[in-house]
Amino acid sequence: MNINNKRRTLLTGGAAAFAVGMIPKASFAADPVKIGLILPMSGPFASTGKQIDTAVKVFLQKYGDTVAGRKIEIILKDDGGLQPEITKQLAQELIVKENIDILAGFGLTPLALSTAPLATQTKKPMIVMAAGTSIIVQRSPFIVRTSFTLPQNTAPMADWALKNKIKTVVTLVSDYSPGLDSEKTFNKRFTEGGGKILDNLRASMRSPDFAPFVQKAKDLKPDALFVFVPSGEGVAVMKQYEERGLAKAGIRLIGTGDVLDDDLMPSIGKAAVGVITSHHYSAAHPSPENKAYVAAFEKISNGMRPNFHSVGGYDGMYLIYEALKKTKGDTDGEKLVEAMKGMKWMSVRGPVSIDPATRDIIQNVYIRRGEMVNGAAYNIEFDKVENFKDPGT
Ligand code: DHB
Repeated sequence: MNINNKRRTLLTGGAAAFAVGMIPKASFAADPVKIGLILPMSGPFASTGKQIDTAVKVFLQKYGDTVAGRKIEIILKDDGGLQPEITKQLAQELIVKENIDILAGFGLTPLALSTAPLATQTKKPMIVMAAGTSIIVQRSPFIVRTSFTLPQNTAPMADWALKNKIKTVVTLVSDYSPGLDSEKTFNKRFTEGGGKILDNLRASMRSPDFAPFVQKAKDLKPDALFVFVPSGEGVAVMKQYEERGLAKAGIRLIGTGDVLDDDLMPSIGKAAVGVITSHHYSAAHPSPENKAYVAAFEKISNGMRPNFHSVGGYDGMYLIYEALKKTKGDTDGEKLVEAMKGMKWMSVRGPVSIDPATRDIIQNVYIRRGEMVNGAAYNIEFDKVENFKDPGT
């Protein structure tokens, strides 16, 4: 084919595609990149939505609303946090009616699981910013997670307990998949290391009453009570732990950091002192990046303290921006997910990367002690497991 023929073919091909309206919208560099952000902005888990929504605002303030020559448009939807079919329906509407390029958010595991098949069918990257059940990333090749997993945060706690003269434990978890992941991981690690589990207690995920469980744990006289509850429920657990006098009975409280959620620490106050938890983020993490983040977050929100969910949102946005830079603004789902695999950066939580094999986050898990700092309760990191992958269940 000579040059003239080639040019003619390209021209007719282009004109023909135009005529039948086949040029995909996303190919216009002038169009914004649309991110459909689905979060629980109301209901019992509204704090998760508020934290992530605020983190996205902090991110846009710092990095701007344009990347790789494309404007970024966020379309926020409130799923109420409790009904997986609503989350899925909102995702469907965002894809069909709003023509979004990327799905993001997902405050709780059941909401992420319900939407996963849709990400696969429509080839849309789905950035899980909060939900923490191990299996989520396996449910779609388009899922990339910037939050954490419960096995990842639980295993270091079991190891710490074994090294610190805790020989018997009662576990108390929320009765849904992340809780069951946490319970299974703790049981396995702790018993394999020679510890003894006296009982596994499970509280309802919706409007839980922790009183009977905390009382039962006290009656069993373990060395420690291990707790996992989702963000928002920690105050109720801490109140029972204090009122029923477990600390005075010599029963320590340990857990994943969800129970001493930074969002709730001002309400929990002194009851947090001495409680040991393992987690990937503390607002007290001593790095310049984190100090700047906490200050910006508190300023934009009139004094709210950022928690671990906010960081999942902040890093999710960072990942999207970096991937768009790599694809030069191309929003093709497969290309974006490829670009995200293996990405490494310095997060406000410490160094992180996306495991290219699983699309899950690899990060440090810190061991922290509840302490009062200038009259306010904080989780102070004193040890860490570096670059820890989700160990699965
Ligand atoms: C999940 C939600 C939370 O708020 C949390 O702290 C941990 C896990 C979840 O549903 O996956």
